Amino acid sequence: MYFLREPRLLTDVNSWHMHIPFAFYLIGILQPRLIVELGTHRGDSYCSFLQAVADLGIDTKCYAVDHWTGDQHSGYYGDEVYNELRQYHDKFYSDFSQLLRMTFDEGLQYFSEKSIDFLHIDGEHTYEAVKHDFDLWLPKMSESGVLLLHDTDKKDKNFGVYRLWEKLKKIYPSINFSYGNGLGILFVGTKISYEVINDITKSFPPDFFRALGERVYFKKKHELLNYQLDATTAELQSTTAELHMIERTILWRAARKFYFLVDKLFPSNTRRRQWYSLMVERIKGGRGEHNLI
Ligand SMILES: C[S@@+](CC[C@H](N)C(=O)[O-])C[C@H]1O[C@@H](n2cnc3c(N)ncnc32)[C@H](O)[C@@H]1O
Repeated sequence: MYFLREPRLLTDVNSWHMHIPFAFYLIGILQPRLIVELGTHRGDSYCSFLQAVADLGIDTKCYAVDHWTGDQHSGYYGDEVYNELRQYHDKFYSDFSQLLRMTFDEGLQYFSEKSIDFLHIDGEHTYEAVKHDFDLWLPKMSESGVLLLHDTDKKDKNFGVYRLWEKLKKIYPSINFSYGNGLGILFVGTKISYEVINDITKSFPPDFFRALGERVYFKKKHELLNYQLDATTAELQSTTAELHMIERTILWRAARKFYFLVDKLFPSNTRRRQWYSLMVERIKGGRGEHNLI
């Protein structure tokens, strides 16, 4: 029941949060020797793999490949994203994991053919980009290889993983979770028994992993919203204090008294008020300044 554990790293990039319990579970039963992720960003999916490896005590080497500059779908970002992840990663996982800061194509040279047991592709999501990544990395998959594709169910904003998924699911045994933008699991290796894993997965109640995943997702969202609420409340308090300060100034009090007097001497909707307004306009030189009366 390892997959019931709480993920230790959840950032505000939440697109993968719903899949974390299933990732825990999958790594637990597959016990892969080599895990590679293409597309890591702030590390939510990758660090869930690392957490599973560390906590389960599996003998696994892990690599994350990313240039850490972003892309059209995740947005472009600066060095702080990589630096923050590097700090966290090195503190807990550097004895069995490495962050490879480079393009996916550059990363290929570090892995021999048929070596990767568990590959997660989550880089650029256009059809052309994900097909390119899939085609180049497929020969690296071992005989026990399992390949994960994120966003198999996202169809707007030029996402094209679903188009590739339509083709791949006809070729390889697969499982697809439609929630969390879709996570497709392809059993590309010949040695891995898809039937066994599918049977175990189906032995859970329907929507079991969805429920676990949604709990992770909404718990974090709740935490972030509470944080924003605290920040907004603090801002409201400081604005209220500033407002009270302004209202205590001599200028503000004088202005208030002046307008009070104007209303007394020249009641609105009277000829006297019209005359007063005319005088003010003349003084202003008809420059169309803000009408204060
Ligand atoms: C959708 S994000 C990854 C999300 C991550 N898996 C998570 O759990 O939140 C995609 C990442 O892929 C990286 N990326 C996209 N295309 C790339 C390429 N060709 N080479 C290296 N990195 C790439 C981007 O820098 C970005 O950080």
